[in-house]
Amino acid sequence: MIDTHCHIQTEEFDEDRDAVLERAAEAGVDTLIVVGGAGDLSTNDKAVRLAEEHAGLYATVGMHPHDAKDVDAEDMERLRNLARHPKVVAIGETGLDFHYEHSPRRVQREMFERFVGLAVETRLPVVVHNRESDREAAETLRGGGGRLEGVIHCFTSDAAAARTFLELGFYLSFSGIITFKNAEELRDIARWVPLDRLLIETDAPFLAPVPMRGRRNEPAYVAFVAETLARVRGVEVEEIASAASRNARTLFRLAPEDVTS
Ligand code: NI
Repeated sequence: MIDTHCHIQTEEFDEDRDAVLERAAEAGVDTLIVVGGAGDLSTNDKAVRLAEEHAGLYATVGMHPHDAKDVDAEDMERLRNLARHPKVVAIGETGLDFHYEHSPRRVQREMFERFVGLAVETRLPVVVHNRESDREAAETLRGGGGRLEGVIHCFTSDAAAARTFLELGFYLSFSGIITFKNAEELRDIARWVPLDRLLIETDAPFLAPVPMRGRRNEPAYVAFVAETLARVRGVEVEEIASAASRNARTLFRLAPEDVTS
C-alpha cells in the first residue's frame, strides 16, 4: 500500500520516526508521499531530506493555505528550486481553507494560483487541500488549462463537488475520516468513485482512523482506510489496495516497485 499523504517529517515523529517506518513496512505500507508545507517552510526541506534517505519515500513541496500569508516571493523562488529535486513528485500541499480562514481568502487564492502555475511549469501533479471552498478551488484548478493533474487530498466535500473534481481529471483521496461514525455521506460517495480515481492516505499525524481515533496517526494506519473502502464497496481489501497503489504510481509517476529501506 501507498500512504499518499503524510507529514512524518514533522517534529511529532522526531522521537520514533524509524519505528514508525518499520511499523508501516510491517503493515505492508512500503511507499510514502511525505507532504511538505505543513506548518512552515522548513517542512519542505525536511520532507526532501527524508526522501533522500529512504528508497520508498517521496516528497512534495508547497505551503498549506493556513500559512499562505507568510509566503513571500523569495520563499516561492526557494520552493521552485526545491521542486526540481528528483525525489519531489508533486507540488503541495496547497489549496484553500475557508473553514478556518487562518489566512485571508484573497491571499489563499493568490498563493494557490501561484502553486498551480508552478505545477504546470514543472509538469508535476498538485496536492490540493480544499475545505468549504469547492467552487473557488475548482475555478483555480480550471485555470491550469487542462494541463494540470492532481489529487483532492482528504476529500470531505459533497457528491456534487466529487463529480466536479472527477470531471476535472482529479483523483479523490480518502483519509481516516471515512472510518468516523458520522461520515455516512462520505462513505456514500466512496461507494461510487471510479476505482481508477481513488487514493488512500493518513494525513499523519492528524486524523487517526477508528479504532486509533484520538491518537497520533501514522502511515501504518492507512490499512484501516483501505479496509473501510473495501467494506463499503463490497470488495476484498486487496482490490482496493492494489488499485489505490496503481493510481498513486500513475499520478506521482513512481517506479513500479519500491521498498522502504
Ligand atoms: Ni496534510
